Amino acid sequence: MIQKADRLNSVTEYYFSTKLREVAALRNEGKPIINIAIGSPDLAPPKTVIEALANTSILPTSHQYQSYQGIPEFRESVAGFYKKHYNVALNPVNEILPLMGSKEGIMHISMAFLNKGDKVLIPNPGYPTYASVTKLVEAEALAYNLNEANNWLPNFEELEKEDLSKVKIMWVNYPHMPTGAVASKENFKQLIAFAKKHNILVVNDNPYSFILNDNPISILEVEGAKDVAIELNSLSKTFNMAGWRVGMVVGDSEIIKTILQVKSNMDSGMFLGIQKGAIAALNCSKDWFNELNAIYVKRRKLVWQIFDALGCTYDTEIGGLFVWAKLPEGRKAGEFTDELLYEKDVFITPGIIFGTNGEGYIRSSLCVAEKVLEEVLSRLTTTNN
Ligand SMILES: Cc1ncc(COP(=O)(O)O)c(C=O)c1O
Repeated sequence: MIQKADRLNSVTEYYFSTKLREVAALRNEGKPIINIAIGSPDLAPPKTVIEALANTSILPTSHQYQSYQGIPEFRESVAGFYKKHYNVALNPVNEILPLMGSKEGIMHISMAFLNKGDKVLIPNPGYPTYASVTKLVEAEALAYNLNEANNWLPNFEELEKEDLSKVKIMWVNYPHMPTGAVASKENFKQLIAFAKKHNILVVNDNPYSFILNDNPISILEVEGAKDVAIELNSLSKTFNMAGWRVGMVVGDSEIIKTILQVKSNMDSGMFLGIQKGAIAALNCSKDWFNELNAIYVKRRKLVWQIFDALGCTYDTEIGGLFVWAKLPEGRKAGEFTDELLYEKDVFITPGIIFGTNGEGYIRSSLCVAEKVLEEVLSRLTTTNN
């Protein structure tokens, strides 16, 4: 047997990758499992997106390798989108790099900037990929606490007490997954000042701006942000295109060039049809967001009822593609979600997978049709199930 690389000793398989195998096995045994755990949009992208893909794919000229930086029209559409929705000016020539989803960007950015032994500030709770990629590149993950009392925002007083001398990157993600918390422009200003003081690259991972959020903002709106901050964005949630794998990293041209130095060695451009579809999506009017959010509003009401039935509490002011809820006092997230899975055939995410500060919480997705959520509710409120 060939020995696997040492770097794999520090990471395990992604939680959903293993848990979904278990869910599939239970389904094979005949269990009617309902999955309300995962944020994979179940609705279709805009019609113009599908048409753009279809029209492009039938052209014989569409099938060659594509530019490493994406076609100019795609980058121009990203620049237009950032100007229209965030009032951020980006140079489409060199401040935008298309990605196959923002998840791959986390690896490219880490490979581009981290040496063995460098430290990385990671939100706890937060998207698990920040920590696992940090470990894969042999840097050190330094968790920073987010909690309800602080509205899930970084506590700079606490951070200043740490030895930050080896910190090179800080991952932030507002609107925040899994809690749905948002950062204000003032919060981003503080982050930029902190990053400048300690010479840290701040990366805001921003895929949830448009989901149940009245005021989408970008960290690059802060004056001088480009000196120390870049932003990941994605079409996965905004336009129901998670399976397309299309997103982007934006920011200062030198930083983007450094990321391209990694990425251009990893893949050979994005299928033209996907780029054309992405352009159509980015050019959608605001009606698209209103229609999408109207559906999520209805679903969220049902999820709140599900959480009421489970004796959980939650913040009704918070948006995003998920509902984050606090378990009844003393309950552990893993036990609670396993009970739901084995006794009620409902799969929901335990907050602990997002870090120790997620203990005592669970997360439900809004990517589930109303009638399915109604079925979950009925399973929880019918005593003989
Ligand atoms: C916080 C966060 N960042 C990044 C991603 C990955 O998104 P993408 O589909 O663009 O790779 C997700 C997906 O769930 C996420 O929740």
